[in-house]
Amino acid sequence: MCGIVAYVGKKPAYPILIKGLQRLEYRGYDSAGVALINSGTHTYKKMGKVKDLDDFAKDQKVTGNIGIGHTRWATHGEPNDSNAHPHTSMNGKFTLVHNGIIENYAHIKKELINRGYKFQSETDTEVLVNFIESIYMEQKVDAEIAVRAALSKVIGAYGLVISCEDEKEKLIAARKGSPLVIGVGEHEYFLASDASPIIEYTDQVIYLNDEDVAILTQDDLVLKNIQNDKQKPKIQKIELSIDEIDKNGYEHYMLKEIHEQPTSIGDTFRGRISIDKTKIFLGGIIDVMPKLTQAKRIIIVACGTSWHAGTVGEYLFEEYARIPVEVEYASEFRYRNPIINQDDVVIAISQSGETADTLAAIKMAKEKGATIIGICNVVGSSIPRETHAGVYTHAGIEIGVASTKAFTSQVTVLTMMAFMIGRKRGNLYDDLYKKLIHELTLVPEKLEIILKSENYIKGIAEMYKDATNALYLGRGCLFPVALEGALKLKEISYIHAEGYPAAEMKHGPIALIDENMPVFVIATKDKSYEKIVSNIQEVKARSGRVIAIVTEGDETIKNMADHVIEVPDSHESIAPLLTVVPLQIISYHIAVMRGCNVDQPRNLAKSVTVE
Ligand code: F6R
Repeated sequence: MCGIVAYVGKKPAYPILIKGLQRLEYRGYDSAGVALINSGTHTYKKMGKVKDLDDFAKDQKVTGNIGIGHTRWATHGEPNDSNAHPHTSMNGKFTLVHNGIIENYAHIKKELINRGYKFQSETDTEVLVNFIESIYMEQKVDAEIAVRAALSKVIGAYGLVISCEDEKEKLIAARKGSPLVIGVGEHEYFLASDASPIIEYTDQVIYLNDEDVAILTQDDLVLKNIQNDKQKPKIQKIELSIDEIDKNGYEHYMLKEIHEQPTSIGDTFRGRISIDKTKIFLGGIIDVMPKLTQAKRIIIVACGTSWHAGTVGEYLFEEYARIPVEVEYASEFRYRNPIINQDDVVIAISQSGETADTLAAIKMAKEKGATIIGICNVVGSSIPRETHAGVYTHAGIEIGVASTKAFTSQVTVLTMMAFMIGRKRGNLYDDLYKKLIHELTLVPEKLEIILKSENYIKGIAEMYKDATNALYLGRGCLFPVALEGALKLKEISYIHAEGYPAAEMKHGPIALIDENMPVFVIATKDKSYEKIVSNIQEVKARSGRVIAIVTEGDETIKNMADHVIEVPDSHESIAPLLTVVPLQIISYHIAVMRGCNVDQPRNLAKSVTVE
């Protein structure tokens, strides 16, 4: 949510900033801006995409070896040129890009207005830059001292980079709650919200911690905290390659990521399942295994697609681990004064590892004494740092805003955990345990088969692309798949869609069914198969159009449904991983056919770092 990029070194900054912003555009794309610092500071900002900014700025004065840039997802103030970042303080001393929210901005703004400050935008960021300037000018201190003094008074979250007219050779960066990475080059430093803008220049990075302040010139980096205590920079090598952030010939990142799932799921379980497929070993949670296996209750907290993965986990944990599970929307959980005990285990699921509500939920649960486990994709992100233990999903960078491969990798981790805890608690006898592990390892090759039917699925998408509503039905651990299918369709094609437990349909949504209503039913062979067949009949009796995801060779449903999409036979606990993929493909093609921007759907951002 909002992307920041900055450069200080010997190279021209502008191309580095523009390319970096394009890489970060998935974090927000309603406006973008850059400031180039040379003899003066030249700021260019535009509502729209990074491309609009580049078209506007490239022929103007964009020289300079120091610069800052920003791509925005609006929080305070609508997307327009004046609310776009960078923001410059009233007397022109400071220029700032910021990701996050300053919660006490209204109070600070009032005080600044009383002292004669005037504002050009509605943003909290402009308040912050003026606040810093007011301290700098009134107290006659160095820029860095003014920044630290201001940050010690603000409430909220920030990842920021700021330049000062009087100290032109340096940039100052700070983080609290919003990620910031420094790339370390030869006589140059890069700064960004994640490593993707940095990797083509250097693989040496420093992840800033909360309350870190970095002062950078082309030859020097000083790291402190807000209280002015020196910090030792920890340089790490990034495990990200340029190939991973390219589209590799696919039209969209989302399509590439859908097709990557056989590999990404394999990467999730690689090294965690023994070669002879008889054991699961999750090294990241080994220390908390006694707590986990004896937990009185598991609470899963997450948002959006990650919450859907958590709900699949609930079914699997209860089936195999036989531990009560609650799946909570992090945003509700954190404000509900929930009852949390010391023998509860809280599992936070998050692709980005930065989702503000999920992060706050685990901080609260940790204070109340629960053991916290993370299931995250982005290594080194905020949530893994707050947990007692965790499992990285290793799905690789996910750039499409609609989550696909991160979801299947989260479900893969949860499936492994459920089997492993079930085994440790003596609920799974040897043969079944081995069979389940074996079934899980077959997922990549089964997904390859499903992906081969993309053209057939695209044909179905063509028939329903003009629908205005859609219903998704599933039972058991396929109910969350129905929720996920509906979310995918609505977020990228803007068709209203709802996911329901299939049997709940007759308690209300059945009233919506007519010949114009596509109903996607996830109906693979499992213990509720007969029941879902009846649900399909109920839809057909009201002239609904049924698109059923079925086990290969299912003639019964084939004779009833308007269309069937077959997936290879598998154990029912594995079915979520297989059945979600045709739904991702349908949503993708419907969205493309409707002319929607699949990778950057309107109003959304990839990493929701505000509550
Ligand atoms: C939907 C989607 C979102 C995220 C949600 C949580 O496709 O991507 O619903 O799942 O914003 O994000 P993370 O997993 O990063 O915490």
